[in-house]
Amino acid sequence: MLKLVVLISGGGSNLRALLEAASDADYPARVIAIGADRDADGFEHAEAFGIPTFSVPFTSFPDRESWGDELLATIEQWGADLVVLSGFMRLLPIRVVEALTPHLINTHPAYLPEFPGAHGVRDALAAGVSQTGASVIVVDGGVDSGPILSQERIPVLPGDTESTLHDRIKVVERRLLVQSVLDIANGTLDLTEKTPA
Ligand code: GAR
Repeated sequence: MLKLVVLISGGGSNLRALLEAASDADYPARVIAIGADRDADGFEHAEAFGIPTFSVPFTSFPDRESWGDELLATIEQWGADLVVLSGFMRLLPIRVVEALTPHLINTHPAYLPEFPGAHGVRDALAAGVSQTGASVIVVDGGVDSGPILSQERIPVLPGDTESTLHDRIKVVERRLLVQSVLDIANGTLDLTEKTPA
């Protein structure tokens, strides 16, 4: 059984999809802890599924490095096989990435390498593209630049707002995330072959 620590910053709908998948006895992964960089709304899903939580508030530390050191120490206490960034909106310091990768994955609401960063949906709309996408990647030292595990195209529809487009992307993102974790757990996807350069 693959043990997951999931990190969130917001509402946690991708997290919820993982929790629902993992409530099936046949799904070979379990969320053992949920962490955040703030008092995230998504902790309500942790409560609903009886999963322990931890918070390492970014604003409680003098700099990104000391915050990252505390976050890493907390994550490591759980002995997870895989850490999932699921709407986690802080850049991790390089020593956190190096300690965890390639067993550190992220979901992103665009077809990487297109539209990396914190505003993938907004940037795709602003660029006027006819299609964008969703991606699951291994985290490396850059911004959404790691090896791609899974991705899918999603059309931008006339009249789309950031909110309507993001909602449609998230439907695909949840499916890709649940499938990627399944593939990692059953060995179909070997993360050690995806080590960032
Ligand atoms: C997701 O679309 C995720 O890809 C995005 O935040 C959303 C979180 O939704 N993350 C990023 O943009 C990271 N660059 P959720 O809280 O409902 O799961």
